[in-house]
Amino acid sequence: MSHPPYVIDEMISAKAIAARIEALSKAIHDEFDGTDKLIVVGLLRGSFVFIADLVRELDLPIEVDFLEASSYGDGMESSREVRILKDLRGPIEGRDVLVVEDIVDTGHTLHHVVNLLLSREPARLKSIALLDKPDRREVEMKADWTGFEIPDEFVVGYGIDYAQRNRNLPYIGKVRFT
Ligand code: IMP
Ligand code: MG
Repeated sequence: MSHPPYVIDEMISAKAIAARIEALSKAIHDEFDGTDKLIVVGLLRGSFVFIADLVRELDLPIEVDFLEASSYGDGMESSREVRILKDLRGPIEGRDVLVVEDIVDTGHTLHHVVNLLLSREPARLKSIALLDKPDRREVEMKADWTGFEIPDEFVVGYGIDYAQRNRNLPYIGKVRFT
Protein backbone atom coordinates (compact mmCIF):
# COMPACT_ATOMS: atom_id res chain seq x y z
CA MET A 1 0.00 0.00 0.00
CA SER A 2 1.39 3.44 -0.80
CA HIS A 3 0.63 6.54 1.18
CA PRO A 4 0.87 10.24 0.43
CA PRO A 5 3.96 11.94 1.89
CA TYR A 6 3.64 13.18 5.44
CA VAL A 7 5.62 14.72 8.26
CA ILE A 8 5.26 14.11 11.99
CA ASP A 9 4.78 17.01 14.38
CA GLU A 10 5.63 16.27 18.01
CA MET A 11 2.57 16.35 20.25
CA ILE A 12 3.64 14.65 23.51
CA SER A 13 7.34 14.46 24.41
CA ALA A 14 9.09 11.35 25.70
CA LYS A 15 9.69 13.21 28.96
CA ALA A 16 6.00 14.07 29.39
CA ILE A 17 5.05 10.44 28.71
CA ALA A 18 7.52 9.17 31.32
CA ALA A 19 6.22 11.63 33.93
CA ARG A 20 2.63 10.63 33.26
CA ILE A 21 3.42 6.92 33.51
CA GLU A 22 5.05 7.49 36.88
CA ALA A 23 1.86 9.17 38.14
CA LEU A 24 -0.37 6.45 36.66
CA SER A 25 1.69 3.70 38.26
CA LYS A 26 0.94 5.20 41.68
CA ALA A 27 -2.80 4.97 41.01
CA ILE A 28 -2.36 1.37 39.85
CA HIS A 29 -0.44 0.54 43.02
CA ASP A 30 -3.24 2.00 45.13
CA GLU A 31 -5.75 -0.18 43.30
CA PHE A 32 -3.81 -3.45 43.28
CA ASP A 33 -1.74 -3.14 46.45
CA GLY A 34 -1.59 -6.51 48.23
CA THR A 35 -2.63 -8.68 45.29
CA ASP A 36 -0.45 -11.57 44.18
CA LYS A 37 -2.59 -12.55 41.21
CA LEU A 38 -2.38 -9.61 38.80
CA ILE A 39 -2.01 -10.24 35.08
CA VAL A 40 -1.14 -7.23 32.94
CA VAL A 41 -2.60 -7.78 29.47
CA GLY A 42 -1.15 -5.76 26.59
CA LEU A 43 -3.15 -5.31 23.41
CA LEU A 44 -0.86 -5.93 20.48
CA ARG A 45 0.74 -4.33 18.75
CA GLY A 46 0.27 -0.67 19.67
CA SER A 47 0.69 -1.04 23.43
CA PHE A 48 4.06 -2.80 23.40
CA VAL A 49 6.15 0.26 24.29
CA PHE A 50 3.64 1.59 26.82
CA ILE A 51 3.32 -1.75 28.64
CA ALA A 52 7.11 -2.13 28.74
CA ASP A 53 7.53 1.24 30.45
CA LEU A 54 4.46 0.82 32.65
CA VAL A 55 5.36 -2.58 34.16
CA ARG A 56 8.83 -1.34 35.04
CA GLU A 57 7.19 1.28 37.27
CA LEU A 58 5.10 -1.39 39.05
CA ASP A 59 6.54 -2.87 42.21
CA LEU A 60 3.94 -5.67 42.32
CA PRO A 61 4.22 -9.42 41.64
CA ILE A 62 2.70 -9.38 38.15
CA GLU A 63 2.43 -11.67 35.18
CA VAL A 64 2.31 -10.33 31.62
CA ASP A 65 0.23 -11.67 28.74
CA PHE A 66 -0.80 -10.34 25.34
CA LEU A 67 -3.90 -10.32 23.19
CA GLU A 68 -4.23 -9.12 19.62
CA ALA A 69 -7.44 -7.73 18.25
CA SER A 70 -7.92 -6.65 14.64
CA SER A 71 -8.38 -2.95 14.18
CA TYR A 72 -7.34 -0.58 11.44
CA GLY A 73 -5.69 -2.78 8.88
CA ASP A 74 -3.40 -0.48 6.96
CA GLY A 75 -5.60 2.59 6.85
CA MET A 76 -6.79 5.31 9.15
CA GLU A 77 -10.36 4.11 9.71
CA SER A 78 -11.49 1.73 12.42
CA SER A 79 -12.98 -1.53 11.13
CA ARG A 80 -15.63 -1.50 13.91
CA GLU A 81 -16.05 -5.25 13.78
CA VAL A 82 -13.44 -6.51 16.25
CA ARG A 83 -11.88 -9.94 15.87
CA ILE A 84 -9.43 -11.69 18.18
CA LEU A 85 -6.30 -12.59 16.20
CA LYS A 86 -4.28 -13.87 19.14
CA ASP A 87 -5.79 -14.88 22.46
CA LEU A 88 -4.24 -14.96 25.93
CA ARG A 89 -1.96 -17.88 26.75
CA GLY A 90 -3.56 -18.60 30.10
CA PRO A 91 -6.91 -18.51 31.94
CA ILE A 92 -7.87 -15.40 33.94
CA GLU A 93 -10.74 -16.77 36.01
CA GLY A 94 -10.38 -15.51 39.57
CA ARG A 95 -7.39 -13.35 38.65
CA ASP A 96 -6.92 -9.60 38.76
CA VAL A 97 -6.50 -8.20 35.26
CA LEU A 98 -5.18 -4.89 33.97
CA VAL A 99 -5.81 -4.34 30.25
CA VAL A 100 -3.30 -2.00 28.61
CA GLU A 101 -4.34 -0.24 25.39
CA ASP A 102 -2.57 2.38 23.29
CA ILE A 103 -5.53 4.52 22.16
CA VAL A 104 -9.25 4.52 22.75
CA ASP A 105 -10.71 5.98 19.58
CA THR A 106 -14.20 4.84 18.51
CA GLY A 107 -14.13 2.62 21.61
CA HIS A 108 -15.04 -0.59 19.76
CA THR A 109 -11.77 -2.42 20.45
CA LEU A 110 -11.56 -1.83 24.20
CA HIS A 111 -15.30 -2.38 24.60
CA HIS A 112 -15.08 -5.75 22.86
CA VAL A 113 -11.95 -6.89 24.68
CA VAL A 114 -13.19 -5.85 28.13
CA ASN A 115 -16.50 -7.66 27.62
CA LEU A 116 -14.74 -10.76 26.32
CA LEU A 117 -12.40 -10.87 29.31
CA LEU A 118 -15.22 -10.16 31.80
CA SER A 119 -17.05 -13.22 30.43
CA ARG A 120 -14.10 -15.28 31.71
CA GLU A 121 -14.91 -14.17 35.27
CA PRO A 122 -11.76 -12.48 36.54
CA ALA A 123 -11.86 -11.37 40.20
CA ARG A 124 -11.30 -7.77 39.07
CA LEU A 125 -10.68 -6.13 35.71
CA LYS A 126 -9.35 -2.62 35.13
CA SER A 127 -8.14 -0.90 31.99
CA ILE A 128 -5.61 1.76 31.15
CA ALA A 129 -5.11 3.61 27.87
CA LEU A 130 -2.20 5.87 27.06
CA LEU A 131 -4.33 8.07 24.81
CA ASP A 132 -8.00 8.87 24.50
CA LYS A 133 -9.76 10.63 21.62
CA PRO A 134 -13.18 11.29 23.21
CA ASP A 135 -14.48 13.21 20.17
CA ARG A 136 -14.35 10.03 18.10
CA ARG A 137 -16.35 7.78 20.40
CA GLU A 138 -19.03 5.53 18.86
CA VAL A 139 -19.66 3.22 21.81
CA GLU A 140 -19.70 4.26 25.44
CA MET A 141 -16.32 3.23 26.77
CA LYS A 142 -13.73 4.78 29.00
CA ALA A 143 -10.57 3.24 30.38
CA ASP A 144 -10.26 3.35 34.16
CA TRP A 145 -7.06 5.37 33.72
CA THR A 146 -6.01 7.52 30.78
CA GLY A 147 -2.60 9.00 30.05
CA PHE A 148 -3.61 11.91 27.84
CA GLU A 149 -6.80 13.09 26.18
CA ILE A 150 -6.02 14.28 22.66
CA PRO A 151 -8.02 15.94 19.89
CA ASP A 152 -9.20 14.11 16.78
CA GLU A 153 -5.78 13.78 15.13
CA PHE A 154 -4.06 10.73 13.71
CA VAL A 155 -1.00 10.05 15.85
CA VAL A 156 2.06 7.80 15.67
CA GLY A 157 5.05 6.88 17.80
CA TYR A 158 5.71 5.25 21.16
CA GLY A 159 4.39 1.95 19.77
CA ILE A 160 1.63 3.45 17.62
CA ASP A 161 1.79 3.10 13.86
CA TYR A 162 0.62 4.49 10.59
CA ALA A 163 0.55 1.57 8.14
CA GLN A 164 3.01 -0.26 10.45
CA ARG A 165 5.56 2.57 10.41
CA ASN A 166 6.78 5.00 13.08
CA ARG A 167 6.21 2.68 16.07
CA ASN A 168 9.81 3.28 17.12
CA LEU A 169 9.55 7.04 17.63
CA PRO A 170 10.22 7.82 21.32
CA TYR A 171 7.48 10.48 21.43
CA ILE A 172 3.86 10.83 20.22
CA GLY A 173 3.51 12.88 17.06
CA LYS A 174 0.68 13.86 14.81
CA VAL A 175 0.65 12.92 11.15
CA ARG A 176 0.45 15.87 8.77
CA PHE A 177 0.22 15.22 5.04
CA THR A 178 2.40 17.48 2.92
P1 IMP B 1 -11.08 1.90 18.34
O1 IMP B 1 -11.58 0.50 18.28
O2 IMP B 1 -11.67 2.76 17.26
O3 IMP B 1 -11.20 2.53 19.71
O4 IMP B 1 -9.58 1.88 17.93
C1 IMP B 1 -8.61 1.47 18.74
C2 IMP B 1 -7.38 1.13 17.93
O5 IMP B 1 -7.26 1.90 16.73
C3 IMP B 1 -6.16 1.49 18.75
O6 IMP B 1 -5.76 0.40 19.53
C4 IMP B 1 -5.15 1.82 17.70
O7 IMP B 1 -4.45 0.66 17.34
C5 IMP B 1 -5.94 2.30 16.52
N1 IMP B 1 -5.89 3.78 16.45
C6 IMP B 1 -6.81 4.66 16.87
N2 IMP B 1 -6.43 5.92 16.67
C7 IMP B 1 -5.19 5.84 16.11
C8 IMP B 1 -4.23 6.84 15.69
O8 IMP B 1 -4.42 8.06 15.80
N3 IMP B 1 -3.07 6.34 15.18
C9 IMP B 1 -2.81 5.01 15.06
N4 IMP B 1 -3.67 4.06 15.44
C10 IMP B 1 -4.85 4.47 15.97
MG1 MG C 1 -4.53 -1.14 18.76
